[in-house]
Amino acid sequence: MTSAKPNLLSGMQPSAGSLHLGNYLGALVNWANMQDDFNAYYCIVDLHAITVPQEPAELRANTRRTAAQYLAAGIDHNKSALFVQSHVPAHAQLAWVLNCITGMGEAGRMTQFKDKTQKGGSESASVGLFTYPILQAADILLYQPKAVPVGEDQRQHLELTRDLATRFNSRFGDTFVIPEAVILKETAKIYDLQNPEAKMSKSAADPKGLVNIMDDTSVVVKKIKSAVTDTDGEIRFDRDAKPGISNLLGIHSAISGESIASLEARFAGAGYGALKGEVADVVVAAIEPIRNRTEELLSDVAELDRLLADGAAKANAQAEQTLAAVYDRVGFIAAR
Ligand code: TYM
Repeated sequence: MTSAKPNLLSGMQPSAGSLHLGNYLGALVNWANMQDDFNAYYCIVDLHAITVPQEPAELRANTRRTAAQYLAAGIDHNKSALFVQSHVPAHAQLAWVLNCITGMGEAGRMTQFKDKTQKGGSESASVGLFTYPILQAADILLYQPKAVPVGEDQRQHLELTRDLATRFNSRFGDTFVIPEAVILKETAKIYDLQNPEAKMSKSAADPKGLVNIMDDTSVVVKKIKSAVTDTDGEIRFDRDAKPGISNLLGIHSAISGESIASLEARFAGAGYGALKGEVADVVVAAIEPIRNRTEELLSDVAELDRLLADGAAKANAQAEQTLAAVYDRVGFIAAR
């Protein structure tokens, strides 16, 4: 893509049949908003998904479902490159080079690996899960992006990416743009409805805590109405003392655009049921059209695959250029 706009890259795993409200508010809304001001590359990271066991047919279906949800939520394939990571071989190739400039201790400090191996222990985890953040650094650095819009949980991976880029540049000469994480304060972390001290995540212990974009409306309403709150009866934003109510206010505000202060004033004296009812309405109004559009897009797989091939061609053009520069700088002779 040729234009004076700065580049942007972000990605999401296709490891579930649906994105959840945290993915949507923490990342996707922002992605759609940024695509006019940036040359944006949006990636479905299937290589990352296989760092934990995947059923092949499910992975294939979930990759297309994730792509359809990106498009349905407003990613415009005419403005942005929407592509699947495994369609661009340079991701795995650059990851290898970056593996070789990453310290074991440095990789070992990544908290996501520690979190994900807490239950099973690191002995049963794959080496791929350990090097996951280095592949993520490759995803980013290939596209020379200024901006990487993500949720709060990706901050540490972005720091590693910046460290590796800086190290490579100083060892081999300027090659990579040093990217900035774009993390919007209001939506950086959407919390689990059943356990509002933990982030909303597809690996939630209780599925009732997780609102999926592809959930039926009645299911969404039920989950929001049974959100865990507290017993003091006051509708007020206080993340520490009132995590459940604060999360509901945060979700409402992120979607409706109404400020937290205005919501607090409007709901002063009202019961929690009233707030939950309105949050359910606001969420349903936002995600129902996305779900319907996603189903429509999934009914024409050939067209969806064509859009992804188009996105991969744009992505490959940029990625191959960066990889060629990297190979040259580290001293590989060019293939003839
Ligand atoms: P993933 O697939 O877990 O999540 C995708 C995006 O959703 C954000 N997110 C949230 N935001 C707010 N509240 C939440 N509860 C919440 N849960 C998820 C994430 O921060 C993310 O922005 N490692 C990445 C995928 C990745 C990537 C990349 C991202 C691979 N390569 C390159 C950016 C750039 C991940 O697992 O995201």
